[in-house]
Parts: sequence; C-alpha cells; structure tokens
Amino acid sequence: MNGPSGPDRPPAARPRVRSDLDGLPLFRGRAAESGMIRLDCNESPLAPPAAVQAALTGAVQGLNRYPDNASADLTARLAERHGVPPAALSLGPGSVGLCAQLLQIACAAGDEVLIPWRSFEVYPSLAGTAGAVVRRVPLTAGHALDLPAMAAAITDRTRLVFVCSPNNPTGTSVSRADVERFLAAVPPDVLVVLDEAYAEFTGRQADPLDGFALVREQLRQGRTNVVALRTFSKAYGLAGLRIGYCLSAPPVAELLGR
Ligand SMILES: Cc1ncc(COP(=O)(O)O)c(C=O)c1O
Repeated sequence: MNGPSGPDRPPAARPRVRSDLDGLPLFRGRAAESGMIRLDCNESPLAPPAAVQAALTGAVQGLNRYPDNASADLTARLAERHGVPPAALSLGPGSVGLCAQLLQIACAAGDEVLIPWRSFEVYPSLAGTAGAVVRRVPLTAGHALDLPAMAAAITDRTRLVFVCSPNNPTGTSVSRADVERFLAAVPPDVLVVLDEAYAEFTGRQADPLDGFALVREQLRQGRTNVVALRTFSKAYGLAGLRIGYCLSAPPVAELLGR
C-alpha cells in the first residue's frame, strides 16, 4: 500500500467503509419501558404465557452451548404443522433477518428490489445494505398494494419483490386471486417474498391469502420463486425471541442456509 504506514501514519478521517450506506436511515428503536404499548412496533404488551416462560427458564441451563444452527427440533415441528418438508423451511433471527438473507442471496450491487410504499419501513434499509437499488410502487388511494402496478414496474434488473400482506402500516390485505394474477405476470427468475408477519390478523376476507398454501401449490407446479415469511413476534407475542421462518423451494432454503 502506498503512503505513510506504521505508528506515524496520520489517522484517517474515518474507516474506509461503503459510502453508499450514507443515505440510509438509522434504525434504532427506543427501549421498551414497563407498561408501555409500542404500537409502532406492533408488539404485544402482554408477557408470554406461563408455559413459554417455563420452557425458556429451563433452556437457560444450556446457554454454555452454541445453538443448533439448523434449529432441527423447531424446524421438524413447523414442518409437521404446515405439512411441508423440513428442507423447504428456513429459520432466522426474526423474519427481518430472513428478509436480509433473502436480499443477500438474490441481489448483487445495482440490482433492483421492488417494494410497495408505504410498507414495512425497514425494506429500504435492508435492500440498500445489500447494495440493491430500491424501486417504490405507491399504494392505491385506498392504501392497498397495487399489484398490477408492481408487476408493470418489474425490469430486467429486478431480483426481488416484497409483497407485504397484511401490509404494515396500512393493514390492507391482498387476496389469493390477486397474488395468483400477480405471480403469473412475474418472470419465474424474480424472487417474490410474501411477507406474512401479520398473517394471523388477516380477519374475515372472501378470498384470503395463505402464503404457505400458495407456496406449496407453486412448488407442485414447479415454480420455485415464491417465498412466504412468518414470525413468532406478532400473533405469538414473542418478539424478544427473534424467531422468524419461511417456506421456499428447497434450493432457496439451501442458499439461505449458506
Ligand atoms: C411487515 C413486517 N415484516 C417483518 C417484520 C419483522 O418482524 P420480526 O423480525 O420480529 O419477525 C415486521 C416487524 O415489525 C413487520 O412489520
């Protein structure tokens, strides 16, 4: 390396890190205080059920060990519950961790990620950190995802599309038929991530989306580009455990495992 080195070397203004991260917002939530209801986090204000507390207390005994990276027990239980092969499931540090991993496996610098906007506020930072260019497709006047406009916004550079349903923060849901029409218009090499962090809150709807059922159906048809994300953070009130999981084609799960 040219220039001065050793103890006399003048201190650099700052470490040479990626300048493209400069424009990204700082994501640092405020710590919860007792009795606080953090609506912006969609977090349960209630303590976990007693059985969960007892299981966690028992697990403290094993903290000298690194965890099982494959999370084999939980993966097996989820596979049984959802009727899917364990090889199609991936667990991550919250579903937000899986969002980041999906971006990592799909995007190189300059690739495009399509997001509805407004939607989960972390998508732009996660995509930006992966080096991707974020394209935002506005919601409809009724605050719903505009899937036809999203399909039309896909370019040769698009590698991943987030479909958040129910959408954070607007609470609108897309129907199964809407998503099927959308998928028919998406090139099969573009990863579509159905973010169903709030799947359990869909409520009564004529044709509700069940991302896991849809991915199973897509796999039967030989389509491998659809992924459904779920989490223990919202309906199960276990945000502090940081467990998210996703169903994908086994080769995608394999890549996430890497
Ligand atoms: C739409 C959506 N997806 C994913 C997440 C991430 O949740 P977690 O990482 O706790 O599973 C959130 C959290 O607020 C969210 O709103």
